[in-house]
Amino acid sequence: MLDLERIRDLVNQRRPGHTLPQELYNSPEAFKFDLDAIFGQSWILAGFTCEIPRPRGYLAVTIGGSPVVITRDGEGVYRAFHNSCRHRGAQVCADGSGGRARLTCPYHQWVYDLDGRLVHARMPETFDRAEHGLRPVHLENVAGALFVCLAETPPSFARFRADLEPLLAPHRLEEAKIAFQNTLVERGNWKLVMENARECYHCGVGHPELCLTFPIGVSADGHFALAPDSHYAAFAARVEEAGLGIGPFAGPWWQVERFPLNKGHVGLTIDGALACRKLMVEGAGDIGSLRWAIEPHSFCHSTADTTVYFSAMPTAAGETVVTCKWLVHKDAVEGVDYDVEHLTALWNVTNLQDRDLVEVNQRGVNSVGYVPGPYSLPDEAYVLAFADWYCDKAMDYIAARTGVDA
Ligand code: FES
Ligand code: FE
Repeated sequence: MLDLERIRDLVNQRRPGHTLPQELYNSPEAFKFDLDAIFGQSWILAGFTCEIPRPRGYLAVTIGGSPVVITRDGEGVYRAFHNSCRHRGAQVCADGSGGRARLTCPYHQWVYDLDGRLVHARMPETFDRAEHGLRPVHLENVAGALFVCLAETPPSFARFRADLEPLLAPHRLEEAKIAFQNTLVERGNWKLVMENARECYHCGVGHPELCLTFPIGVSADGHFALAPDSHYAAFAARVEEAGLGIGPFAGPWWQVERFPLNKGHVGLTIDGALACRKLMVEGAGDIGSLRWAIEPHSFCHSTADTTVYFSAMPTAAGETVVTCKWLVHKDAVEGVDYDVEHLTALWNVTNLQDRDLVEVNQRGVNSVGYVPGPYSLPDEAYVLAFADWYCDKAMDYIAARTGVDA
């Protein structure tokens, strides 16, 4: 049983506007708590419909410690399940994706239909198969982005969908494919990975390549990007002409905003050129980037030609796996319409730089001399929002289980 009172004490110790107490960044207790209270209670961007490109297939991912499988049946209906066999609990599908008419557990070959029903099991006659289907998980599809939530009662989704869908739909993710994906193991707590991902206070020195294309800083009025007025006005006019929304929209666990790249740059690549000749937003080019960020684990950037997905999954108190996926139009041909090195180089170098910063951060946070420090505003406004959201979510979870408010 987790010591919820200990976690509550730690959250209560936090000074407003400051980083978290040390134990929340490095203790196995807090890690276990985060899996239950945060990753078990939030909407998670598990992947994309284009990862199951044909009827009868699946996509399997692990969220915190919990494997989940998303299926697409013969009629094209998507469903999500706990990826844990109802016999003795084995993971039914290995993480990844593929075509399947049915899901067969590798341990004793129980067979499940794509709608979760158990259809075959070598068991005594009295055994009731109907009682042993895969357990469903909440699933939402927003313009080709698949969100799952492990909680029995998930956070309300309607406002998030209303904010994201109109801006994301023109990027036609249903017609995309994964051009490349990779993972990075970072020796840092997931919250340090996400804090780092929520600010560009470090970008000027930390990311010389990203700075060429990416506007650094947050404007005083809360916009994600700093851009000279004339540049922003021209960007806004272009985007409006293309019939695309800008935002910004924000809720307790999301931010959605289209912002301009640096002048003369149209793609999130090292040279600022588009990475793929086949566009996702037809007829568009210089429309900046749509940033859509979801607590607790993800951000994406959608430009005219690509979408880049970043996801941080905790695997231990001091270890996080970062997954990056690059999406391009499904008909784009590698070597003709895009080059994988050109497509991926900017985020690969940026992710490696960020990994080093996260690991430096974790080592210092582990010090007996660590004292929580102040976030710098407005540059770290989104980090502060993340830390505040984390504390609120933690307290809500504890209050619901102990019946005692903070
Ligand atoms: Fe799946 Fe036995 S654990 S069939
Ligand atoms: Fe960074």
